[in-house]
Amino acid sequence: MNRLATTFTGLEFENPFVLASAPPTESKRKILKAFEAGWGGVVTKTIGLHPVENVAGPKTIFQRTSEEKPYVSRNKRPDTVSHSSWNWELISDQPLELWLPDLEDIKTTYPTRRVIASIMAGAGNDEEMENWKKLARAVVGVGCDAIELNMSCPHMDRKDMGANIANDETIIREIMAAVKVAVDVPIWVKLTPATSTLVDAAGAAYEAGAASISLCNTFPSLPLMDPETLKFEVEVDGLVTSGGLGGLAILHQALQRVCDISQAYPDQAISGIGGIRGWREAFNFIAMGAGNLQVCTAAMEEKGSGGVGVKLIQELKDDMLDYMDRKGYASLEEFRACARHRIVQHAQVRRKSGSYNGGYLAAE
Ligand SMILES: Cc1cc2nc3c(=O)[nH]c(=O)nc-3n(C[C@H](O)[C@H](O)[C@H](O)COP(=O)(O)O)c2cc1C
Repeated sequence: MNRLATTFTGLEFENPFVLASAPPTESKRKILKAFEAGWGGVVTKTIGLHPVENVAGPKTIFQRTSEEKPYVSRNKRPDTVSHSSWNWELISDQPLELWLPDLEDIKTTYPTRRVIASIMAGAGNDEEMENWKKLARAVVGVGCDAIELNMSCPHMDRKDMGANIANDETIIREIMAAVKVAVDVPIWVKLTPATSTLVDAAGAAYEAGAASISLCNTFPSLPLMDPETLKFEVEVDGLVTSGGLGGLAILHQALQRVCDISQAYPDQAISGIGGIRGWREAFNFIAMGAGNLQVCTAAMEEKGSGGVGVKLIQELKDDMLDYMDRKGYASLEEFRACARHRIVQHAQVRRKSGSYNGGYLAAE
């Protein structure tokens, strides 16, 4: 029996580890390599209909820190460990027409692995709703198992796209309604963590028929400036803009948000993303209620694997199985959400005196 097998949003996964929408899933070549290495699924790099052109400089940097005089920088130094990725990469620059035959080939070669197509269009008018439908129909037509709606890209100038729309419940419902009439596969909705109304946004998506929330995309953030040179660690002609922070640095914040959604909607599905480098981080997302796990930065950082985490997926599977052996778990479901009920309000935590917030709770 495959103890890592899961059923998530009605789809069977050989294992719950999925490459997130990003460079590791930007091409047929990389996706085939990822499946050969053993990933349970991929979410494709986001596919859109509007042409994109990336900045004239590096799109992603990997930042490291050290124990000695610790500071975060992309500069290569001895004895450093990974801190985060920072990127301002736009969605896929491969047009839909070229993606479709690639997706079909991938599904034919690996029929039992899950391919989730990430798609993105705008909002606010019928034409954009038609764009969502067109993208959805096209990718499902060539065999994609599910769709992930990108409502979370942190560096879109357009006000009707990406993270800019993620706290607008009306827009979430409109897009969901459009995509739902177009296709009959599970719809995952990827939200931005950068909103104070995340739980409401997730609620609107679930209510409108989302099979899962994917959380989280990168956190809007700025790169650092070198005090000596006054250059940003990444810039073009001296200029930079808000980009997205990923990797270990966002793990705790991602966990908290996954927990918020999981507590508010305990019967709904969540795909956990943000800072997963090994089975311990994956465990923590599962313990908060996630039933599926997505990885980006750690796979990109692995040297010699073409950026798809060949060693990483083997380790994730082996180490998780090892843990399950030690604990006697037959499946991930046996410990999923085991931590959720232990996240409480501050007043519910015992004070030094033995009381609970001065007896506030006892009086209730
Ligand atoms: C270079 C880069 C490009 C990304 N592109 C996309 C994208 O096109 N669509 C999307 O939904 N998320 C995109 N992401 C976000 C990742 O899918 C993921 O949500 C985020 O990096 C957090 O996971 P991590 O901590 O494992 O990196 C991108 C991330 C990086 C680093």
